[in-house]
Amino acid sequence: MAAHTLDIEKIRKDFPILQREVNGKPLVYFDNAATSQTPKQVIDVIVDYYENYNANIHRGVHALSQEATDLYEQARIKIQKHCNAAKAHEIILTSGTTHGINIVANGFSSLLKKGDEIVVSAMEHHSNIVPWQMLCERTGAVLKVIPMNENGELRLDAYDALLSNKTKLVFCNHVSNALGTVNPIKVIIDKAHAIGAAVLIDGAQAAPHIKANVQELNVDFYVISGHKVCGPTGIGMLYGKEEWLEKLPPYQGGGEMIAEVTFEKTTYAGLPHKFEAGTPNIAGGIAFGAAIDYMNALGFDDIAAYEQELLQYATEKLIAIPNLKIYGNAASKTAVISFNIEGLHPYDIGSILDKLGVAVRTGHHCAQPIMDFYKIPGTVRASFSFYNTKEEVDVLVSAVLRAKAMLS
Ligand code: ALA
Repeated sequence: MAAHTLDIEKIRKDFPILQREVNGKPLVYFDNAATSQTPKQVIDVIVDYYENYNANIHRGVHALSQEATDLYEQARIKIQKHCNAAKAHEIILTSGTTHGINIVANGFSSLLKKGDEIVVSAMEHHSNIVPWQMLCERTGAVLKVIPMNENGELRLDAYDALLSNKTKLVFCNHVSNALGTVNPIKVIIDKAHAIGAAVLIDGAQAAPHIKANVQELNVDFYVISGHKVCGPTGIGMLYGKEEWLEKLPPYQGGGEMIAEVTFEKTTYAGLPHKFEAGTPNIAGGIAFGAAIDYMNALGFDDIAAYEQELLQYATEKLIAIPNLKIYGNAASKTAVISFNIEGLHPYDIGSILDKLGVAVRTGHHCAQPIMDFYKIPGTVRASFSFYNTKEEVDVLVSAVLRAKAMLS
C-alpha cells in the first residue's frame, strides 16, 4: 500500500464541523458518500462572495456583475483543468449529478428511436436508472442491464453479450455509492465505442477519491457533484464532448441560454450557456472551484493512499464482529463499507450509532436493485474521507458492538 504524506490533525482543523458534538459525544462523521464536509477555505469563499461580489453574472455592465462573472468563469476553468477537458465550454455547471444526467437523458429523446438499446449497470444509483427509464418511455428504446457478481463487481462477459449495433448509449457509475466498487470504466467505454455507442459515466462517488481524466478516458459525458468534493450542495459538473453538446438540444428554456428571442423563433446561445438557463448557483460555482483547489492541494494520490489505509483498518475491525457481513468486496474499492448484522435492522443500528455520535447512512442508498440482488432491505453504510481517523474507526466499532448488544 502506498504511503501518504497528509497531516491529518492539521487537515481536521480546516473543518469547523468536526469540532462539534452530537448527542453529547464528539461527532464521528462517516456519511461522506452522501455529503462531504466543507473546509474553512471553501466556507470563506462563499462568505467573501456574498460580502463583496454578490451580483448576477453575464448580464451587467457594472463592476460587481463583471467581477462575479470573472470568478464564476475562473471556477469553470479550474474544473476544466481538474478533469482535463479540452475546452472550458465543455464544462456545464449544473445543480448536481442528477441534473447533469437529466440534461443528457432529455437531449437523447430526439436522437433515439423505438428498438434502440440503452445499457446500464446493475449497481447504479436511482439517478442513473430513472432518467433512462423515462427516456425509454418517451422513445420506445429498451433498457438492458449489466449484471454483477456476489462481490459487487460487474460481469464484463455479460456486458459483451449485451452490446450490439442496436446499443446507442451506455451508462455506468465510476464508483458504486452503495458498495464502493471501482468499476473498470475504461474497458466499458472502449467496448461501447467499438460498436458506436456513447457513454455517460456517473462520477459522483469517484470524484472525492479519484481524479478522472476525461480525455484519457475518451468518455462522452462525465458527471459529478460539488457536495461530494468538499464543496457546497446545489452545484455540479456535466462534462460533455463538444460534438455531443452541440448535437443535444437544450434541457431548459429561459434567460441566458438564448442568442435571440422573437415570438416567431428563438435561437440558442453557444456552449456552455445553451445548457445554463436562468440565474445559476453563482456562489456555489465559485466555491466548487475553491473546493477543487483545496483537494488538489492535498493531492489525490495522498488522499487515496490514506483512505485505503482507513478502509483496510475498518474492514479488519468490522469483520471480526460475529455475524457481521460486509456487502461489496470488489478487488478495487473506495473507502466505503456497507454491512449488516444478522437479525438486526440497519435502521435500528444506525439510530443507536447516532445516539453515540456516529453518523452513518442506513437504508437502500438510492440503489434498490443492489439490495434486491442481495435480498436485503438495506445496509448500514460507513463512508470515509481523508479527514477521518483510525481512532474514529475504533469509536464506530465500539458503537456497533454496543448496538449489537442492545438489539440482540
Ligand atoms: N447519493 C448519495 C449517497 O449515496 C446521497 O448517499
